[in-house]
Amino acid sequence: MTLENRRILLVDDMPTIHDDFRKILCPQAPAKSALQATRAALFGDEPPKATTGAAVFELDSAYQGQEGLAKVEASLRNGRPYAMAFVDMRMPPGWDGVETIEHLWHADPRLQVVICTAYSDTSWDEVFRRLDARDRLLILKKPFDNIEVRQLAQALTAKWQMTQQAALQIDSLEAAVDERTQRLTQANLALQAEIAERKNLEAQLVQQEKLASIGQLAAGVAHEINNPIGYVFSNVGTLEGYLADLFRMLDAYEQTPAAAQLRALREELQIDYLKDDVPSLMRESKEGIGRVRQIVQDLKDFSHVDALQEWQMVQLHQGIDSTLNILGSELRDKADVVKEYGQVAEIECLSSQLNQVVMNLVVNAAHAMGDRGDKRGRIVIRTGCADGEAWFEVTDNGSGIPSKVLPRIFDPFFTTKPIGKGTGLGLSLSYGIVQKHQGRITVDSEVGRGTTFRVTLPLRRRATPAEMVPA
Ligand SMILES: Nc1ncnc2c1ncn2[C@@H]1O[C@H](COP(=O)(O)OP(=O)(O)OP(=O)(O)O)[C@@H](O)[C@H]1O
Ligand SMILES: [Mg+2]
Repeated sequence: MTLENRRILLVDDMPTIHDDFRKILCPQAPAKSALQATRAALFGDEPPKATTGAAVFELDSAYQGQEGLAKVEASLRNGRPYAMAFVDMRMPPGWDGVETIEHLWHADPRLQVVICTAYSDTSWDEVFRRLDARDRLLILKKPFDNIEVRQLAQALTAKWQMTQQAALQIDSLEAAVDERTQRLTQANLALQAEIAERKNLEAQLVQQEKLASIGQLAAGVAHEINNPIGYVFSNVGTLEGYLADLFRMLDAYEQTPAAAQLRALREELQIDYLKDDVPSLMRESKEGIGRVRQIVQDLKDFSHVDALQEWQMVQLHQGIDSTLNILGSELRDKADVVKEYGQVAEIECLSSQLNQVVMNLVVNAAHAMGDRGDKRGRIVIRTGCADGEAWFEVTDNGSGIPSKVLPRIFDPFFTTKPIGKGTGLGLSLSYGIVQKHQGRITVDSEVGRGTTFRVTLPLRRRATPAEMVPA
């Protein structure tokens, strides 16, 4: 793009001045002499240039300040601004030179101006101050030399051009810097997002590895315990039967002639007490064994050793409702349960396992209410669907989880509850189940305010690599 601009405006009330300027700035090429024309025809010579060094300018005339302003405005509208203006100092009856220049600069601040005057009574300091002239105003004293006018025109149009060029370069430089800055900012944001994502993945990986190794251990322990527990359980049952038989036998002996001797022995051995105590010992043993069996079962679930269950399409809300029903009284004493169900499509899942997750979360929420005096707790269950995933949340306004405890809550056997109330398996089991469903479980908690657990599950199970192997 060329910024060449040789357009000049002359504002002067004297027509003769316009003639002079035109001669100086726009000299006509001299008519070719007959001799020159012949030479050109014969030898193809270029005719000599007009006055040496005189570049040709495009000169416009205005005879009053107002007219000058109109011309400048029109030139701007047409996208052909003037590079400079010569302005006469005194131009009755209209604006004088200074006022004219003020208006011209108001319209186009880039305009280079030469003020022409024959009078030396002007206070130039005053003029420069009033006009904010900076470096755009020169003074030309009349009477002037032709060469002065031509040099001024030459220098100031060149200056206009260079100033424009510099401004353009600065603009494009600024744009380039802006663009670069923007790209850097974007790159920075992307980097930060990636770092956050990586940290998140790392944390998940650590958690997964931890649980996987604990899972293996759990599976081993469960397997080892399962057998002995099985025969202890069945033996206790058999033993109970045997003992009943023995007691019956004793009763029968007491009816025989040796009864007196037997009665003495009976007193000595406190058989009456024993008869009372044996059944309760048996009951407690069975209960204890039952508990151990349940823990073993939980451990097996946690480590996925029993993969017997079927994947089915299930309504999430149905599962939640039935789980809440089972919990019934345990919940009702502790808290109000509020359901805020959204629209959720059927999800493909192992429904009884998913119910177990719901149960663990809701029971934990109820436990978190602790002792609140007469203030009842509130548990909100929300559901929803987004981007091919279903989610549900269990929110309580209970104790909240201290940040020291938070990293450990998914660890197996981690519990803050008294012995007998919690085994610390609920969340680790839930974590395992959600993993198996290719979902995520997250927690958000604040001490004194409450806790929200959120489980997100894909609506459809994605085939795992093992399942994709063709039969
Ligand atoms: N909603 C909750 N509010 C406050 N603390 C919670 C909440 N849910 C879990 N926790 C904390 O996480 C710990 C582990 O929970 P988890 O369900 O795994 O075990 P538990 O409830 O202690 O025992 P279990 O579930 O096996 O009966 C809890 O002991 C408790 O400290
Ligand atoms: Mg629990």
